[in-house]
Amino acid sequence: MVELKSAREIEIMRRAGRVVAEALSATSAAAKPGVSLLELDEIAREVLAKHGANSSFLGYHPHFASTPYPAVICASVNEVVVHGIPDGYRLREGDLLSIDFGAELDGYHADAAITVGVGEITAEDRRLLETTERALQAGISAARPGNKLGDIGAAVSEVARRAGYGMPRDYGGHGIGRRMHEDPSVPNEGKAGRGLRLHPGLVIAIEPMLIAGGKDDCRLASDGWAVVTADGSRAAHFEHTVAITERGPRILTLP
Ligand code: MF3
Ligand code: CO
Repeated sequence: MVELKSAREIEIMRRAGRVVAEALSATSAAAKPGVSLLELDEIAREVLAKHGANSSFLGYHPHFASTPYPAVICASVNEVVVHGIPDGYRLREGDLLSIDFGAELDGYHADAAITVGVGEITAEDRRLLETTERALQAGISAARPGNKLGDIGAAVSEVARRAGYGMPRDYGGHGIGRRMHEDPSVPNEGKAGRGLRLHPGLVIAIEPMLIAGGKDDCRLASDGWAVVTADGSRAAHFEHTVAITERGPRILTLP
């Protein structure tokens, strides 16, 4: 069931979204060679504590996972697309790191992700990051009243496919509110003009995941969480929580 949010609920989600933006900015600033993924998780925990917010991820146990999620960030390095569990791995020059973070404040969630290069990265990796961010912006621009859900997926995939990248078939965005994952599911591929009509008050997370090798195939790592590219090529992931308003899309996870 798709629940529309009131202006009051969207303001609460905007406050949660500011906490998310702050955690992403603090962890990405700290993502230098030699820093471990667990150290980044600790930085994100401090941001939550400072704002009296709860993690959307810690202890989260969806049907697709064998164990509850054990951390407050997802830290997905290189060929890990999403849901990398932070461990003692120390970042190296040239790594691509996706940081995904969710916060709950006063009963409402916000969820966002960015991918950053560690130190110097190649021009090829930079193109992957820029294209994924552009796919997110295209999806956000399509998130306006009168459009359909399929317009978002069509906009995202148009950018990704034209650039020659793959996208995992079974993962995408989602409605968000009192729960982190709500209806509707927001696929990164779709037919323009098809699907659910987008009404003001609908709040969704839009999250393109692009695979450098151009194929869509992924596998689940042995930890039951991390999604890894089948060809071992690198991936990037960007996400914002977006409210559809009468005046168009409003990004809730900006600073
Ligand atoms: N943005 C990710 C998603 O919507 C967050 C996953 S959180 C986890 O799938 F707790 F499931 F890891
Ligand atoms: Co999400």
